[in-house]
Amino acid sequence: MPNFRVKKIKELILPFKKDEVELEWMAENNNVILIYTKVNEESFFLQIKKEENYFIIKGDKHTKPSKIAYLQKSLQVFKDYFCNSEDIVSEAFAFKHNALIEKTSLIAFDFDQLLSKIKGRIYIEIGFGSGRHLLYQAQNNPDILIIGVEIYNPAITQVAKLAKSQNLSNIILIQSDARLLLSALESNSVEKIFLHFPVPWDKKPHRRVIAKNFCLECARVLGKNGRFELRTDSYEYFDFTLKQFLNFNTPKFSLKKNEKLEISSKYEDRWKRQNKDIFDLWVWNLDRVCSESNLDDFNFSDITFDTNDLIFLEKNFKNFTLKGDDYFLHFENLYQAKRGLIFKIAFGAFNKPEHCYICVNNKIEFLFKKPFKIKENLKAMEKLKKVLKFHFDIA
Ligand SMILES: C[S@@+](CC[C@H](N)C(=O)[O-])C[C@H]1O[C@@H](n2cnc3c(N)ncnc32)[C@H](O)[C@@H]1O
Repeated sequence: MPNFRVKKIKELILPFKKDEVELEWMAENNNVILIYTKVNEESFFLQIKKEENYFIIKGDKHTKPSKIAYLQKSLQVFKDYFCNSEDIVSEAFAFKHNALIEKTSLIAFDFDQLLSKIKGRIYIEIGFGSGRHLLYQAQNNPDILIIGVEIYNPAITQVAKLAKSQNLSNIILIQSDARLLLSALESNSVEKIFLHFPVPWDKKPHRRVIAKNFCLECARVLGKNGRFELRTDSYEYFDFTLKQFLNFNTPKFSLKKNEKLEISSKYEDRWKRQNKDIFDLWVWNLDRVCSESNLDDFNFSDITFDTNDLIFLEKNFKNFTLKGDDYFLHFENLYQAKRGLIFKIAFGAFNKPEHCYICVNNKIEFLFKKPFKIKENLKAMEKLKKVLKFHFDIA
């Protein structure tokens, strides 16, 4: 992470603008000053941390811009206009102007970036592993965007390299649990979902990707004409999946055994060498079920604060975590700013926490981005409203 250390900082008079960098306003607590910074269309916090003999200036890790050059450029501006060169203790950021030009990438670093790249027809492959099937689909369907979702990061880097060497640009890869990815996608937006050789979890079926909610989410994002395709060596997994989809009203199925495909994945090769049977289950015509993901947006309009509330919130603030069945809410830090109290919070699903800053003045608003509308986040935000309403005085 680019940063520099400096003994002294000049008086911070904001807003300040130089070229494309705007330092707009600041928030602070005893240890840290945050500077709300905008470069072109992106905003993030620069962070000034007070150490014993110097300040360390870097980007806040949870709001960092998609282009590292934006951060480097704003550190450069901060150093040039708010520090004297003789006070610089160390410097670890190299800024090259041409770095501001965006590099194309086949990897999306978060759901926001992924959604911004989605246009037109989509296939999804869950747990693509070595990527043979995903690359094959991309080669054979140049007008379709293939979204690959994997929890294992090295597979993502490896497949991105292979896609680049094959000049494939209709691929986006993201590191995520597939169950969370689906809840971030629009209804009726996907044509096919491939799940090939998932880990069977025969002894711990609750860890399977396939579950009631997952099937509801498949039905929502696929729409009636979209198709889910499972290929597995596990008869138990095949049977389990069939039963899950039989809960719909009029599902249609295609079942096959030992069907030869043009492409064989690494796992498929392994199972074939062991003479195992391979099962295919295709499912479509899933009726529209209103799943929980079609919930209202985050709605904070029903809660307002006055000056006394803000005094109590500041006085009673504590760093603590609340846990529900499938979600949590953690209050991490509090900063004071002219525009209100700035809370740093983490929340949501245990395996996909969101980190956000909220500003509380007479109302609550998200700084930077809003979280994804998945049910765990919505539950955490309902809890947040309660905690703030009762000034942290909760049982
Ligand atoms: C047995 S491998 C199969 C890989 C590949 N589909 C093949 O046929 O060679 C299962 C893959 O699913 C990934 N995976 C497991 N659970 C996942 C989840 N919840 N979301 C996304 N990927 C997952 C694993 O990291 C692993 O790469």
